[in-house]
Amino acid sequence: MALEVKRLGNTFFAEVRGVDLRREISDNVYNAINKAMLDHGVLLFPDQPVSDAEQERFSKGFGPLEVTFEDPEYYVAHLSNLNQDGSMRSADSRKSTFLRANQQWHSDSTMFQAPAKYSFLSAHAVAPEGGETEWADMQGAWDALTRERREQLDGLIISHDFQKSRRGSEYEFDEEERSQWPPLSHPLVRVHEETGRKVLYLGSLATHVVGWPDEKGRALIEELLNHATQEQFVHTHKWNVNDFMMWDNRRVIHRGRPWDEEKYPRDLRRTTVKGTGPTMINGEAVNEYERAQSAA
Ligand code: OGA
Ligand code: MN
Repeated sequence: MALEVKRLGNTFFAEVRGVDLRREISDNVYNAINKAMLDHGVLLFPDQPVSDAEQERFSKGFGPLEVTFEDPEYYVAHLSNLNQDGSMRSADSRKSTFLRANQQWHSDSTMFQAPAKYSFLSAHAVAPEGGETEWADMQGAWDALTRERREQLDGLIISHDFQKSRRGSEYEFDEEERSQWPPLSHPLVRVHEETGRKVLYLGSLATHVVGWPDEKGRALIEELLNHATQEQFVHTHKWNVNDFMMWDNRRVIHRGRPWDEEKYPRDLRRTTVKGTGPTMINGEAVNEYERAQSAA
C-alpha cells in the first residue's frame, strides 16, 4: 500500500491514507509521514482504531515522548470527561476545569524550555455536536504580515506562564504547581528547526513582551492572536471515532471547542513528542540570550 497524502482546505491540513498505524512502520513510511508533516503541519489519518500501546509505539517513532501530567509512568494522556468506571465526570471537577484550558488557542507545552514537537490525538468517543478541534497556521499568519510589520516583530521575546492559561477558570494552581512552573521565555518569531520557515509563536500562556510595559505587550499578543486565527488560517475538524490526528507544534496552534460535557462523552487520547532543544533567538537559546542582554 502506498502512502497517499491529500491536502484538505487551502493552506495546510492534509489527509493521509494507505498506512495502518497499528502495525510496525518502516523507516521509509516514517520518513514519508515526516515529510508530509513538514509540508502541511496537521495530518488526519482516518479509520485508525489504535490502542494506547499502539499509539505510544507509533508516536515514539518520531522521538522520545513527554510523560503525562497525572502519572510520570504514562505517555498516553486521557483527555476525557469519563470517570474510570465509564460514568460522566462532573463538569466542575478539578480535572474538567484543568482540561477546559485546552479551549484557548495554544501550542503544546510552552511551559517547557524545549516545548513539544509533535502531538497526536486519537478519537475513542466524540460528541455529536460541539467538541471540534481547530488549528491555525502560524506560518501562513507570519507570511501574510507586511514586511514592515515583520521587521518590527522579529527579535521580540514573549514571557509564557502556565498559570495564566488557567486564570479566569475555576482551576487554581496549588503551591507545588506554582513552584514547579515558573514563567519562561520564547521568541515571538520562531525559526522552524527543520523547514527554516519563520512562524509566529504564541498562545494562551503568553503574558507579556519582555522589556515592554505589560499593557502594550498584552495588546500586541491579542492583536497577533486575532490576526492568526482569522478564517483563512484556520481549519476546523469535526471528529469521527477512530480519527487519528498529528500536528507540528512548531508551526500551528490549536484549541478544542466547547460541548455539553455532562451530556456527551468525549474521549481523546494524546501522546506528545518532546522538543529537541530550547527555543532559539539569534542562534542562542532564548533564556541564555535574555540573561546576556540583561547583564549588558
Ligand atoms: C490537546 C488539546 C484540544 C481538544 O490535546 O493538546 O489541546 O480538542 N486538545 O481536546
Ligand atoms: Mn493542546
